[in-house]
Amino acid sequence: MDLSPEFEDNRNNWNDRALLHSESQLYNFEHYRTSDHVSATILYDLPLMGDVTGKRIAHLQCHIGTDTISLDRVGAGEVVGLDFAPDAIRIARKLATDCNSSATFVEANVYDAREVLQGDFDIVYTSVGTICWLDDLDRWAAAVASLLKPGGLFYIRDGHPALWPFEESDGVIAPMYNYFTTSDEPLDWDTNETYTDGDHNRITHTRHHEWNHPLPEIFNAVSGSGLRVDRMEEHKEIEWPFFPSCPKVGDQWILPEPWGSAIPAMFSIWASKQSDQLERSK
Ligand SMILES: C[S@@+](CC[C@H](N)C(=O)[O-])C[C@H]1O[C@@H](n2cnc3c(N)ncnc32)[C@H](O)[C@@H]1O
Repeated sequence: MDLSPEFEDNRNNWNDRALLHSESQLYNFEHYRTSDHVSATILYDLPLMGDVTGKRIAHLQCHIGTDTISLDRVGAGEVVGLDFAPDAIRIARKLATDCNSSATFVEANVYDAREVLQGDFDIVYTSVGTICWLDDLDRWAAAVASLLKPGGLFYIRDGHPALWPFEESDGVIAPMYNYFTTSDEPLDWDTNETYTDGDHNRITHTRHHEWNHPLPEIFNAVSGSGLRVDRMEEHKEIEWPFFPSCPKVGDQWILPEPWGSAIPAMFSIWASKQSDQLERSK
């Protein structure tokens, strides 16, 4: 895999995180091994995505496979997860075996998804902490579009870019980072923090890089790929405690007031491949 120095750092960081996350209470592998548990992410997205029964699904940036296995459990015909972190893929494959799941996994840079995944898909799905790791959304969206069958659905739910600049420090929430990032000016981090429980000192590859993508950049990348953007939504719930003071409501977190009423926490986009787009995105 030919990766930029920033992506190399990110892959090393995600390998460390994958190991820690697979043993965390947050991901709770035991739940998947001992029951028909479906992840909170998929329970949230299923009514939004529509019926997945019998559908062929590509799950991009699948991490350690819990959502991929969940898609298999809620009736997908065939589901393949893709991630560039080899430890995440190894862990996901082992969990699928332990769960007797037919979900499969491929190790690759998401930009190379078309080259490594076989055939076309009814649904391309990606969610919760995905495009902030990517520097080139046009390249990403072109890969997404090329994976879909005519009439196929692309669905993404992710952290809202309006939230990204904010941080909570000593109980005070304020904008700390740029809303606008460019491909050559990412947000550079050197920290062993992650969003799960567990001993964060086990994260030894601490350098990582993120890009915040304003909504128009996301919209323009998806529609520029030839897909038709059918719908966008904003959500007040978020999948992880973005600020330490976020209250938990059911399986999700919300932003503390007055922020909960002031800024969106997540967004969803639905886009579809029209029959006359076939040539354009291949
Ligand atoms: C926040 S996690 C996704 C979490 C997922 N929603 C979950 O909870 O299981 C982000 C994932 O993106 C993957 N990733 C980051 N950059 C990538 C790239 N360029 N190609 C493929 N995967 C990438 C990381 O390895 C990591 O597993």
